[in-house]
Amino acid sequence: MDNFTFCAPTYFAFGKGQEAETGRLVKRFGGTRVLLHYGGGSIKSNGVYDAVTAALRDEGIEYMELGGVKPNPRSGLIREGIELCRREKLDFILAVGGGSVIDSAKAIAMGVHYDGDFWELIKDRKIPENILPVGVVLTIPASGSEGSSNCVITSEEDGKKWGSGKADSLRPKFAVMNPCFTFSLPPYQTACGITDMMAHILERYFTNTPDVEVTDRICEALLKTLIEEAPKVLKDPEDYGARANIMWCGMLAHNNIAGVGRVQDWASHQIEHELSARFDVAHGAGLAVILPAWMEYALEHSSPQRFVQFAVRVCGLEQDFAHPERTARLGIACFRNFAASIGMPTTLGELGIQDSDIPAMIDNRRDRGFPFGGFVEIDEKAMEEILRLAL
Ligand code: NZQ
Ligand code: ZN
Repeated sequence: MDNFTFCAPTYFAFGKGQEAETGRLVKRFGGTRVLLHYGGGSIKSNGVYDAVTAALRDEGIEYMELGGVKPNPRSGLIREGIELCRREKLDFILAVGGGSVIDSAKAIAMGVHYDGDFWELIKDRKIPENILPVGVVLTIPASGSEGSSNCVITSEEDGKKWGSGKADSLRPKFAVMNPCFTFSLPPYQTACGITDMMAHILERYFTNTPDVEVTDRICEALLKTLIEEAPKVLKDPEDYGARANIMWCGMLAHNNIAGVGRVQDWASHQIEHELSARFDVAHGAGLAVILPAWMEYALEHSSPQRFVQFAVRVCGLEQDFAHPERTARLGIACFRNFAASIGMPTTLGELGIQDSDIPAMIDNRRDRGFPFGGFVEIDEKAMEEILRLAL
């Protein structure tokens, strides 16, 4: 196990009715004038908006609204948010939504006291000293941004979808997590979220760092939980217990408790970001396609041992000691079948992406640099091969 530091100071208020605490939590973390940031309107039709604004009013907290965050959040609205915070002297950002809203809020928070354009911060992975505090009311478990230390933003000007630098100061101050708020999620969004969580765990699980048994076991527990709970929520979207387990899994999958002390991979995320930048696909759906293709490529270019461990401990398959590659391949098939069983695409074609689109995606990646990937190194040729495997 490698040396590490771990500081994840987000305060979580989890469970039914916890949204009533929102106003008190904003105050506790220093907010007096709030930017209420949200997406395309789901919070208005499912009652979340009314509950949260009531909680703010109960504490006499003033707020101004900026809705309209799109999935794969865009730079234009972030600039609008920065201007609004500066003009109205807002001192706290409350993100009510999912990863896109939270990430947009984090980017605004970084930009308000920064002299230049916020995109310079993302581009150069710089974290300014003075960041506005961000609080979250989570409505879709998926990105883990409610506990994570970065954000991912799409620049409308040049079609890049890039992650910011990482810093504990970018972790939200608090996150209100009421599983009932996720009852209204359509099955596709539910499945995208579950796939994203699994990807966050697998990007950490595939490592060459030895002696990481404790984090391996955390990863395996989270993966098994998701595999068991997913069909329950797809059958009954109001299954509170299953929604609750999935919601907490999403946070644990990505606040890095499952990834400390090891070199992590993240190649599938890097490749997926080129899909969502160019074709605006849902992040989880893109991962459902890329991750198994990456696994196939990685198996060819590494020892099968990690894949066998995944197949046996997570998928419950029997180990073929004479032919470890066979067990490894069955594990990959198990992941792909699971993704398909919850309604995810498994080929680029299903996302409307063709052979002829591959060069442009590789080209767009060049500015962020090659190679990448901590388990198996991915250069341009490898990225092309993975995209072809995904066709
Ligand atoms: O916009 P509204 O109307 O709210 O609808 C949203 C959106 O269309 C809808 N939705 C959310 N909660 C709902 C709901 N619909 C009904 N009922 C509810 N309770 O779901 C759609 C997707 O929302 P979005 O926020 O885009 O989803 P997600 O949480 O998956 O976030 C995806 C973004 O997070 C980034 C992704 O790249 C992507 O841009 N990520 C951020 C990470 C981080 N900061 O740590 C890590 C991740 O790997 C990921 O890259
Ligand atoms: Zn992700």
